[in-house]
Amino acid sequence: MAKILKLNKISKVADKVFPSSYTLTEDCAEPDGIILRSFKMHDYPLADSLLCVARAGAGVNNIPLDKCADKGIVVFNTPGANANAVKELATCMLFMCGRRLAPAMEWAQSLKGTEDIGKQVEDGKKAFIGGEVFGKTLGIAGLGAIGSKLAQTAMALGMKVIGYDPGITPERLKALGDVKMVSLEDLYREADFISIHVPYLESTKNMINANTIAMMKDGVNILNCARGELVDNTAIVAAVKSGKVNRYVTDFPCEEVLGVDGIIVTPHLGASTPEAEDNCAHMAAKQMVDYIENGNIVNSVNYPALTKERTNGKRLCVCTKDVADIKNLLTANDVDVTDVKEAHRGAYGYAIADVKEICGCKADKLMKVAGVLKARVIG
Ligand code: MLT
Repeated sequence: MAKILKLNKISKVADKVFPSSYTLTEDCAEPDGIILRSFKMHDYPLADSLLCVARAGAGVNNIPLDKCADKGIVVFNTPGANANAVKELATCMLFMCGRRLAPAMEWAQSLKGTEDIGKQVEDGKKAFIGGEVFGKTLGIAGLGAIGSKLAQTAMALGMKVIGYDPGITPERLKALGDVKMVSLEDLYREADFISIHVPYLESTKNMINANTIAMMKDGVNILNCARGELVDNTAIVAAVKSGKVNRYVTDFPCEEVLGVDGIIVTPHLGASTPEAEDNCAHMAAKQMVDYIENGNIVNSVNYPALTKERTNGKRLCVCTKDVADIKNLLTANDVDVTDVKEAHRGAYGYAIADVKEICGCKADKLMKVAGVLKARVIG
């Protein structure tokens, strides 16, 4: 039965989703599935047995997506499952830009055992005066699950919200109500607070850099709950030191940003709530089981979505590359194609064929056909 390798500590909620026949392990050379959080998989061996990888979270920059796709390994993530947790941290960050809570709390604690604490508080509190968010403009780059939740919260706090997201769905745009959609340049120019909620890709690397910071208002505040790599650290440190940027609040500590006055750092806490960890683990495990047992693909980041109701009999599942018509390929290899569904995502394709009887050896034969990356028979 299926072996699931855990490369990070995953909420126990996942264990209940996997059938009792599955083996859940932290050490296995030939797993059927891998479940992980931030473990860096780029140099991790991809065994021939591996069918799928599930990221209990949104970001997948720790997984070699193309390498997996080329081996017919489907990679899943869990969009939205930790969105509320990340939104709540981003909301804290908004307040942290003005209200100097961390140093203020530290100072208050330092008064223990001293004389006339009440007087010291009234005299000393002026060192921690900070501004409000009410009435200010928040620019949100990326209005996916997290960005759109943050937009609603910010509006409820009395902020004006502007957004940038070229890929936003019409439904989500409608649900956002008063959010004004603008170009990224206008967002940089108009916002008092900027919060980034985009994935880390080649195209988004260092999107906050010396040039984009130059477009921003003097005294802007920048929040980063997405990925450290989205911000050019040399540029942000210089901008904070010069006063161009009032505060940079980041959930991604690294040598350059630590110890800089005006840069507030949290230790990748965005999704670290029991609720988010449970939600992500549940969703990741459910998607894996559905893929392993039924071949259904939901929320993959490297293969097309494809689901098919199970009928009686066997199911052949095939992952391909550069095959325009998988049905044709199956016909040419004597597979009954009366009940086939296929879908494509760029060069990669996926097909499910329901057939009354098919031998596992047919899958082995298909694996030798050009363009077929993975073939297996279920049931
Ligand atoms: C995410 O990308 O969703 C977070 O980084 C998840 C996590 O903290 O594991």
